[in-house]
Amino acid sequence: MSETIPPPIDTSSVFGEILGDDSTKRRRPEPTVVVIFGATGDLTGRKLAPALYNVMLDGALKEPTVIIGVSRGALTKAAFGDKLKPAVTQHSRQPVVPDKWQAFANKLEFVGGEFSDDATYKALGEKIDEGMKKGAKSVVFYLSTPPAVFPIVLEKLHQHKLITRSVQKPGVPGCRVIVEKPFGRDLATARALNEMIGSYVDESQIYRIDHYLGKETVQNILVLRFGNSIFEPIWNRNHIDYVEITASESIGIEGRGAFYEQTGVVRDIIQNHLLQVMSLVTMEVPSSFAADDIRDEKAQVLRSVRSLSLDDVANNCVRGQYRGYRQEQGVAADSQVPTFAAMRLMIDSWRWEGVPFYLRAGKKLAQRLTEVSIHFKAVPLVLFKEEAAGSVLQPAVLTLRIQPHEGISLRFVAKVPGENINVGNVVMNMTYADAFKRPIAEAYERLLLDCMRGDATLFNRRDSVDRAWELIQPVLQVWEATDGVQIYEPDSAGPKGANVMMSRDGRAWRDLKV
Ligand code: BG6
Repeated sequence: MSETIPPPIDTSSVFGEILGDDSTKRRRPEPTVVVIFGATGDLTGRKLAPALYNVMLDGALKEPTVIIGVSRGALTKAAFGDKLKPAVTQHSRQPVVPDKWQAFANKLEFVGGEFSDDATYKALGEKIDEGMKKGAKSVVFYLSTPPAVFPIVLEKLHQHKLITRSVQKPGVPGCRVIVEKPFGRDLATARALNEMIGSYVDESQIYRIDHYLGKETVQNILVLRFGNSIFEPIWNRNHIDYVEITASESIGIEGRGAFYEQTGVVRDIIQNHLLQVMSLVTMEVPSSFAADDIRDEKAQVLRSVRSLSLDDVANNCVRGQYRGYRQEQGVAADSQVPTFAAMRLMIDSWRWEGVPFYLRAGKKLAQRLTEVSIHFKAVPLVLFKEEAAGSVLQPAVLTLRIQPHEGISLRFVAKVPGENINVGNVVMNMTYADAFKRPIAEAYERLLLDCMRGDATLFNRRDSVDRAWELIQPVLQVWEATDGVQIYEPDSAGPKGANVMMSRDGRAWRDLKV
């Protein structure tokens, strides 16, 4: 008689929200006026408008939600909707259908004008008032503009009494400002920006967005670590050999040459996305899941990351640039701006002493892949035939796949069926798509809703941003003062130097599918 394999556990029925302050759990935000500065820009079309459209489709927006675009130029409400529609159609998670689109377009308003012109803010004030009279309770200002215009926008909002300083409480309607990255371009400019914003609004009103923190899989890092008793006891230097964090993109700079020349991969990805992911992987257990308890621990671990000396930059950091970057529009013919960086960081803490963290990020690589791999220590080989054991008995690796094919896999050793004790490596794989059978929302959807309901858990606090700049400052300093970027081929795994850096430690990066 053949035995049947027991069915998998039904994961789809066991949900419960654990992140965020109690008062905000599972609650639709109060009706909000969302004001987007830079409303005709790329980010609004690719991310913000699609996110708002999708949260509307999911029934998360209470009436009356009003979305006011502010930008140069004169557009009617209808023309603003028409301008957004193709981008939303292209980038929306769910299809754009006529009646739903009409419902969304009805929420849109547009204010055209210069950011330095009082008339712009007078018109904006009138539109916000209309929204509040209809019953909106909160106002969110999204600064989706180059940072250079933040000061004038905030100054004018302040002068026109559209923002006022006040301490915000989670779950309570209020007035908040979302600031897009890049948050400054180095430690000094980030500090100045923080000072400047802080002169108009309270820290609790400032939502510094890092969209990686809104990704389901990034949030799951905390749930995996603290929601299972099996991981935390081994999540330390006694059991973990090293950790790899990769953000590999197959796309290039996508026409953003001028921006990228000022930014480069360290400011674009490492200072924010990768250090945030690293802080979630390495932070201590927070005393609760409330915003500041989590943010305290993240800031604390970033403070424990060992500062890089100028020698460390030479020995433990590698920069690369894809062949063809210098021919992109807006890029200097002799540009030294890195489109790839790899670095080795150490954390001086009780938990992580001696465990290297290898970070790499790059564009035009062989594969789109963002993941964290936790490499566990090898077993003592005494039980096994030495000669084979070293190569076959590979240490276990737990991989958190942030994207694509979101999920978690564990590679471990198992006996190959047969008379002899032969062993092989096997991989156990969980994917979100199979386990939960529900679509994964885009990061911006979650983050916009969180800001509307006053939950700052997934936004960056000033101290973390500061510390992250402090950490990469030596890298920027050395790389901007000296040439030496290594050219790598598009669709490759990056410059050779990255492999050399790893092999010096007797290790290799996980493969990118070249
Ligand atoms: C942005 C960077 O923050 O993140 C882009 O500015 C990058 O250069 C993007 O392409 C990657 O985001 P995601 O969500 O596609 O991994």
